[in-house]
Order: sequence, then structure tokens, then C-alpha cells
Amino acid sequence: MSFLKGLIDSLGSVFSESSSSSSYPNPTASNSPAMDGVAGPGAASVTNERVAYKLKGYFDLAKEEIAKAVRAEEWGLVEDAVAHYNSAQRILAEASSTPVPSFISASEREKVKSYRQKISKWQGQVSDRLQVLSRRPGGTSISKTVAPARTTAATSTTLNSRNHVIPKTLHPSTSMPATRSQTNNIVRSKPVQDSGAGYDEKLVEMINSAIVDRSPSVKWEDVAGLEKVKKTLMEMVILPTKRRDLFTGLRRPARGLLLFGPPGNGKTMLAKAVASESEATFFNVSASSLTSKWVGEAEKLVRTLFMVAISRQPSVIFMDEIDSIMSTRQANENDASRRLKSEFLIQFDGVTSNPNDLVIVIGATNKPQELDDAVLRRLVKRVYIPLPDLPARRLLLSHKLKGQAFSLPSGDLERLARDTEGYSGSDLQALCEEAAMMPIRELGENILTIKANQVRPLRIEDFQKAMTVIRPSLSKSKWEEVEQWNEEFGSN
Ligand SMILES: Nc1ncnc2c1ncn2[C@@H]1O[C@H](COP(=O)(O)OP(=O)(O)OP(=O)(O)O)[C@@H](O)[C@H]1O
Ligand SMILES: [Mg+2]
Repeated sequence: MSFLKGLIDSLGSVFSESSSSSSYPNPTASNSPAMDGVAGPGAASVTNERVAYKLKGYFDLAKEEIAKAVRAEEWGLVEDAVAHYNSAQRILAEASSTPVPSFISASEREKVKSYRQKISKWQGQVSDRLQVLSRRPGGTSISKTVAPARTTAATSTTLNSRNHVIPKTLHPSTSMPATRSQTNNIVRSKPVQDSGAGYDEKLVEMINSAIVDRSPSVKWEDVAGLEKVKKTLMEMVILPTKRRDLFTGLRRPARGLLLFGPPGNGKTMLAKAVASESEATFFNVSASSLTSKWVGEAEKLVRTLFMVAISRQPSVIFMDEIDSIMSTRQANENDASRRLKSEFLIQFDGVTSNPNDLVIVIGATNKPQELDDAVLRRLVKRVYIPLPDLPARRLLLSHKLKGQAFSLPSGDLERLARDTEGYSGSDLQALCEEAAMMPIRELGENILTIKANQVRPLRIEDFQKAMTVIRPSLSKSKWEEVEQWNEEFGSN
């Protein structure tokens, strides 16, 4: 095959030229994350540099082969993919057997050691991938429906200058490429490609470790009521991530969703439930993670975030309290925050204009009126999450009390639901917690000896007492403003 010939040629040239320092691959010409920390020419002796440069050369070649293999998989060409992975495997084996002279400096030895570790990690990942492919009959399990569309992918987006394919370092927790769904055959991630502006391995790692939410604790059933919102989320996010093949063309889901409403009524909870329910990689981005942890890097972080999200799609980027980072531009706004917003808009447009990218942005706010117009325009679905009405409060209370060793008779529950008008979801949670403490407080010294099943059940009086302590936390005037905004801009 021609790619193999090319590979052999390129290998040949690198191997034969590796004794000449002028022909070593230029580290600055590559965005390989593996290059971080490699000293530039002149920093150490030529011999010292040689080993690292040589390993870098192998790295680049292996990376290219892996990129080709990943692309071949995208096109359903399993045989080609296997051939490329095998080539990559050979290059990596060659790299790992490169002798390390005993006289190199300690710092160089460290670099070489780190390269070797990365090489062996890649070897493991490539061989895992080969195993997965060997279990598949010649390409049939790779969706052909996705493939033709890929020809037009990334033609007109801001990301279309992606020309540098970065393999598995960006897919640390999934096999490469990730196969996520049994029903969909190929819900898979695409390799991260460089937008041209480069990316920072450190930021990628931060995103993978600090922003990707791997263990969302909230289940779909934990969210009481909000049926309409749940339906929207099911249609827009959960089903499309599970059955990507069905949600194309006219059924292509909207990419921007805003959850808004008064505080404490389940916006964050719902987003977390989406994370555990859908098969998307969930990126939980808060204002603080963008602005405080990586001071001065926010813009770059946003760019990297979208790149990683594309590579690990289907993805959901959840921006909690989105108003604090995407509020209306002000005259005295500092440069960094303006740049951050612009970068977000550019990246968002990039993923929405590419029909094959499934990256959905969900924003949550209780101050929708403060959002920047440009951001608002892109969050096309805007779903109001109101204070719970009577049926919702009834449901929420019975939800909170369910499974406890105590419960209220249904008549009392109804009364309580009526008496708690104006309470938010979190107020009701606090109310139940406070009421649950009442029987415990009565125990006095017996608390140390009483058996758990001997504690008296809850009564309506406990809740009535608790209501004197836990009052509704929201003033009517405040949420009326949000309701008005909903009338004007909401999707309901
Ligand atoms: N629909 C609901 N079902 C179950 N619990 C709820 C519901 N709504 C709110 N709660 C309770 O209220 C708490 C706060 O909810 P959540 O953090 O999702 O609110 P929020 O709308 O994101 O508020 P904020 O605008 O202040 O961020 C939850 O941890 C949960 O205990
Ligand atoms: Mg919240």
C-alpha cells in the first residue's frame, strides 16, 4: 500500500539522517505534547540532544501513523487502520529499543525516561486498539453512514485549519478512538486537531482531570418533576448521544441550551443528571475554573476545551453560572474577559457550523437578563426552570421523604405541599432536613443508647416547626423579573 511505502521512505530518511544534527526533526515545527520540556539545540551537548531528538522523530512518525489509522477508522477502512496501527507499533518498538548511552547527563536521562514512559503507554493503547479491531469483521461494525459526511466536515469552520492530529494523549480514559455505544456502533471520538494556534499539553491535562466530570452523582430519577425540561434534555442531548445515527439532518439537535430560573430549583442538578444519563463526555466548566485557576490562560483554556470536546465527542460543555463569565459587555470590562468571550463565541460557532461535530453547550443561570446578547443568540433553546408549583412540591417532598425510615400520611403531605408555596427545591430540601432533626433533638441523653428503629416517625408538626426556621429564600419580586424575561425570550 502506498502509505506503507511512504512510511518506509520517511522512516528510512529519519533513520539514516539521525546521525546528523541538522536533519533532526525540528521540535518547534511540531505541537506534540510529548515535546514539552525537550531542550532546544545548544542547550546541552550534541550527543545529549541526540537521543531525545531521535525519540522525538520516532514519536512524530508514530503519531502520523496513528492519525492515519484513526482517520481510516472514521472512513470504515478497518484493514487500512490495522495496517497503520501496525506501522505505528513497529515505530514505537524501534523507539523503545533505541540505546541510551551511559554518558548522557542526568537531566537528559530524565527526558529520555519520560519519553520512554510515553512510548510504552502509546504501545499499550495501540495494541488495545488493534485487539478491538481484530475482533471486528472487516469494517462492518464501523458506521459507513458517518463516513461520507466526513468529506465535507471541517470545511468552513474556524477549526478547519486543524491539520495536526494528536492521538491518545487527549483520550486518557477511553480506548482510541472511543467506542461508546452498542446501539450506535460508532459513536466515537475524533482525534484532537490543532486549530493552528497550538495547544498546551498542561491545559489538556487540566481539562481532562479537573473539568471532565467522570462521576456525576445525580441520577435522572433524583430530579423530581420538571418533566418538560427533562423531555427537552432527552431529545436534545441524551438520545442524540446514544443514537447519533438517528439524529442527523432535520433531526440534528440544537447545540446550545440555556437553563434559567430562580436559584435552587434544580438547574445544576439536571445538568449533572444529563452527565450520568447520556453517553457524552461531560465538561463541567464553572466561572471559577476559567478565571481563577488559570489566571491569564482563560482564553487559551476555552480554545483547548473545545478542541478536547471535539476529540472526545459526543460532548456536553456545561457552563454553570454562565452569566458571571458571559455577561453583557461593559465599557469598563477588562481585556481578558472580552477576549474570553470572543474566544467562546468563535469556538462555539466552530462546533455548531460543522454538521458532524456533536458538542452541545448547556449554560445555567439565574440572571438570564444579564447575559451577553451574542451568547444568548447562540443558546437557541432557553428553558425556564421555575419554582415548584403545587404538584411539583408534592412530588419533591414525597421524593425527599421516600426511602426514609419515616414518612407522612398522604393527607399531611398534601397539606405540607400547599403550605410551602414560594419554597424553592433547595428550601424544601432544607425543610425536610430540619424536620428530620426534630425527633432526634427530643431524645436528650438517650441519643447514645436508642436503637435507630426506635426513633419516632416524622409528624406534620415537625414540618410546621421547621417552617418557622426555614423560610422561602426568594423574594417574589426577584423571580418575577426572571418570569418576565421568560415570557420574552424563553422557549416555553
Ligand atoms: N427538582 C428537584 N428535585 C430534587 N431536588 C431538587 C430539585 N430542585 C432542587 N432540588 C434540591 O435543591 C438543591 C439545589 O439545586 P440546584 O443546585 O440544582 O439548584 P440551581 O437551580 O442550580 O440553583 P442555583 O441557581 O443557585 O445554582 C439540590 O441539591 C436538591 O437538593
Ligand atoms: Mg446551580
